[in-house]
Amino acid sequence: MSVYPITLSQTTFVHRDSLKYPFEERGLQFGDGVYEVIRIYNGQYYLLTEHVDRLFRSAEAIKMELPFSKEEITNQLIELLERNDMNNDGKVYLQATRGSAPRDHVFPKDAEANFYAYVLDLPRNMDNFRNGVGTITHEDLRWANCYIKSLNLLPNVLAKQTAKENGCYEAILHKDGVVTECSSSNIYLVKDGKIYTHPTTKQILHGCVRIRVEQFVKSLEIPFIEEAFTLNDIQTADELFLSSSTSEVLPVVSVDGKTIQDGKPGSITKQLQHEYEKDANIQGTIQHMN
Ligand SMILES: Cc1ncc(COP(=O)(O)O)c(C=O)c1O
Repeated sequence: MSVYPITLSQTTFVHRDSLKYPFEERGLQFGDGVYEVIRIYNGQYYLLTEHVDRLFRSAEAIKMELPFSKEEITNQLIELLERNDMNNDGKVYLQATRGSAPRDHVFPKDAEANFYAYVLDLPRNMDNFRNGVGTITHEDLRWANCYIKSLNLLPNVLAKQTAKENGCYEAILHKDGVVTECSSSNIYLVKDGKIYTHPTTKQILHGCVRIRVEQFVKSLEIPFIEEAFTLNDIQTADELFLSSSTSEVLPVVSVDGKTIQDGKPGSITKQLQHEYEKDANIQGTIQHMN
């Protein structure tokens, strides 16, 4: 059975099929809301605090008050897993919107945020994890506040769909040749033993897994350089990899049909995958040799 809570004025846990969602709702009509996707391994959240912190940062950035404290939502999210007897690998999707009100661009006066969260199984994709994925490049057509995890995902959806239609897993987004991130993940380039990635400005989502990647890189004493790289730099990259809650740390083995080096995951990427599995306390599947 799958249940989820919807918080209007108080939390209730209901079967997903019985949820009635209002149609004059600001998330539906304006994308006026924020969301999170949190990874679960063996029934335990990974990076829960980081996700809850970002949810509050996103809500504040769009001037939306959440109807709970960080502690309350953390406890509710834990209860959600318990009520579902969740012991597998999975994810929780949650979203908070500015509420239900007659359609008007201006914020409604008395509306309370709508919130729901639900849990899904999500087995790890070991084929991608071991062998890496193909990507395309795509213009970054998003707005100026990509650090907010807002519900407005149309440019991301269109870019990802183009990747899919080209037989690829992800779209690498760029502004005039400068790589920002991907449609649903952060991206890193390895060159001469150093790792480059876009700085955490307003132009990218500050990934929760990115926080960990930075820590792994520093603990391995690899230089972590927060400088954007370009499409040209990709031509001569030693390695390229992605990070996100659903993709984990994932090797990129081709871009626009051209392989990165020999088309196999590189050794620094594999070391970071090994660190990721250790940190998330999951089955170690990546062997790496120093
Ligand atoms: C645009 C974008 N960048 C980066 C990420 C990675 O974020 P996280 O590591 O918190 O999953 C995501 C995740 O969905 C995303 O949508």
